[in-house]
Amino acid sequence: MAFNFFKKKPEEPKPVPADAARVAPAGGAGTSEGQGDKTVIESRPKEGPKEGPKVLFSGAVPHGDKRALKVQMDKIAERAKGTAKKFGVAQPKINMADRRTGGRTVLGASKHIGEAKPAADAPETAAKDTPAESAKPGDAVTPGEKTAMEAEVKEAPVSKEGEGKGAEGAEASGEVRTPEGFYIDLRPKVVTLPPYDKKREINVRYPLIPPYAYAHIYWDSKENELMYAVEEPLLDETERELLELINLGLEEMINISFVRAAKSNILIQYLEKNVQSILVELGTKVSKKTYNKLMYYIYRNSVGLNEIEPLLNDYYVEDIECNGLKFPLYIVHRKYQNLKTTVQFNDGPYMTDFIEKLAQKTGRYISYAKPLLDGTLPDGSRVNATYTEDITTRGPTFTIRKFTKEPWTPVHLIQTKTVSAEAFAYMWLVIEHKFNIMVVGETASGKTTFLNCIVDFIPPEARICSIEDTRELNLAHSNWLPAVTRAGFGMPTVLGTQYGEITLFDLLRESFRQNPDYVIVGEIRGKEAYVLFQGMASGHPSFSTFHAASVDTVVKRLETPPINLSPSLVEALDVVCICIHVKDASRNFRRLKEIDEIQEIEQALGKAKFNSVFLWDPLKDIINYNQKPMIFERIMKRTGMTVEQIKQEMMRRAELLKKMAEKDISNFEDFNKVINDYYKDSDMVCKQFGIK
Ligand SMILES: Nc1ncnc2c1ncn2[C@@H]1O[C@H](COP(=O)(O)OP(=O)(O)OP(=O)(O)O)[C@@H](O)[C@H]1O
Ligand SMILES: [Mg+2]
Repeated sequence: MAFNFFKKKPEEPKPVPADAARVAPAGGAGTSEGQGDKTVIESRPKEGPKEGPKVLFSGAVPHGDKRALKVQMDKIAERAKGTAKKFGVAQPKINMADRRTGGRTVLGASKHIGEAKPAADAPETAAKDTPAESAKPGDAVTPGEKTAMEAEVKEAPVSKEGEGKGAEGAEASGEVRTPEGFYIDLRPKVVTLPPYDKKREINVRYPLIPPYAYAHIYWDSKENELMYAVEEPLLDETERELLELINLGLEEMINISFVRAAKSNILIQYLEKNVQSILVELGTKVSKKTYNKLMYYIYRNSVGLNEIEPLLNDYYVEDIECNGLKFPLYIVHRKYQNLKTTVQFNDGPYMTDFIEKLAQKTGRYISYAKPLLDGTLPDGSRVNATYTEDITTRGPTFTIRKFTKEPWTPVHLIQTKTVSAEAFAYMWLVIEHKFNIMVVGETASGKTTFLNCIVDFIPPEARICSIEDTRELNLAHSNWLPAVTRAGFGMPTVLGTQYGEITLFDLLRESFRQNPDYVIVGEIRGKEAYVLFQGMASGHPSFSTFHAASVDTVVKRLETPPINLSPSLVEALDVVCICIHVKDASRNFRRLKEIDEIQEIEQALGKAKFNSVFLWDPLKDIINYNQKPMIFERIMKRTGMTVEQIKQEMMRRAELLKKMAEKDISNFEDFNKVINDYYKDSDMVCKQFGIK
């Protein structure tokens, strides 16, 4: 396979979008004197023909076919070792992918796979050029048929609420920049999107990994639905070939265990050094534009999670769902609900490699013998995946529940009107005085998010044990012992358990022996409920989430198989918080629907007397407070404060939370600092915030 880089005609300079201004323009002759090009070019050898695009890398070694390349790769493998040492990157670790590929890490060559393709009926979007280089505010794009939809695609403006906040899942530093000038922004600003009710008019683009990957959401008039296209730089035939060769070379030269890899910045610099070596060895010259595109894909497929990396970087994406091979991925979008994407996996072996990579990133194990994966990605996202066709007939599947890298705080939920400041102030008192809480709701109604917010109110020095199947909770407390379950190995015993298996039940039983002040169980499903309620009844304040829609269904589910608790044990529960996800043609938001105080569990199955202290009014979209919390009398008995004093204290805390929301003290650390300070000296904090 011979390359034609030398013959490529110089390209015309292209306008560069404002967003991409920090990326040097394409390496055409006309732009070669550009500031961005200069630094790079001068750092490289200058041999190579004078005509044609200005050379970024060039080497003297001619190459023939892939076999010849392999020989060359062996030579440069030695050089790569030196680079690895210099960057302090972990050296070879044989992982699952290695076994299948004979000891080589799969870097996800993009040739044979479901690369994000431009929308079927939006060929002009990306086909003309890459969005990275061509996308600019006001760019005309034709996503639908040539009808009224030919209207211009709008660049979404930065949202007010998102100002200063970056997209989620990104590195704290927010950007990757290499000495050779490759730059990507991993924290694009959160944008404001048009409303959902006029969905046929939606035609908007916003950055995911600028200046390379963009989301383009538009109404597809053929399919009659909103589409989510991931736009990435298009590679021409030669560039694809070159990317494949570089990937091949990287496989030969380095073997990084990406599971616990170093920071993206360090890794990408390390990869870049190796890419440069390969390019030099190949005797290949590439323009800066091509180089940047290649580096983007190398970043995406090695440091990132391949085709879904842009989706993981979208603030608006809640879930990413893949239902099998050759089916488009779906996302749950914060604003537009379920959207079909243009990303799909088409190649079986590539897909299984990808699932293995997901497993590696979660630090868990997946195989033909154990084809179910339940884990947490380094950014906190929860992953469920299947590996083989015999259990999911469309091939491997996965679902990723994206979690915010910076956990949401009560301020976020107050700002989004999910919960009122008064309701949080009430929960603060309930938590401080050690009552038992269950957060319930339907799937994805925001239970874990709400639970993770209220645990911020636990006093700073308290000893907390948390137990989860996959780690989702995030606490600022230093005296916190987080535990997760572990899958077992081999054949199940007669009791149905496997060797080495550690269940929620085991962990919970242990945790009560560790003298915790608070126990948090991520989600209750089975027999662990018995241990939890025993703990609650014996004075260990415990919080958990549970799938149920109302107090009655909570009680019924707790009293019937497989949980089977007695009414007297269920009575240990003090407060039930109910979350809902309101989804209809024009609305898509989450609300705290109720806070109910359990007064009595009746003998009749699934019946309870309770007091709804807070109740959401769906017409006015406000959360009403009934002013009569019964729990305050119990607090009075514990503390000696009068009910009136407790009510005043609640209002003072509500005032503080409102002020914090106004001042946007939403950052996890900042929020927790104020709460900690309040526990130490509430008057001082109130004074700071101008509260009497
Ligand atoms: N108040 C909110 N506003 C907007 N998005 C939210 C809110 N609460 C949660 N989310 C988002 O909704 C998704 C589901 O949230 P979460 O995992 O907390 O729900 P859950 O009820 O615990 O789900 P599951 O039943 O799967 O455990 C997440 O992506 C989360 O970021
Ligand atoms: Mg949950």
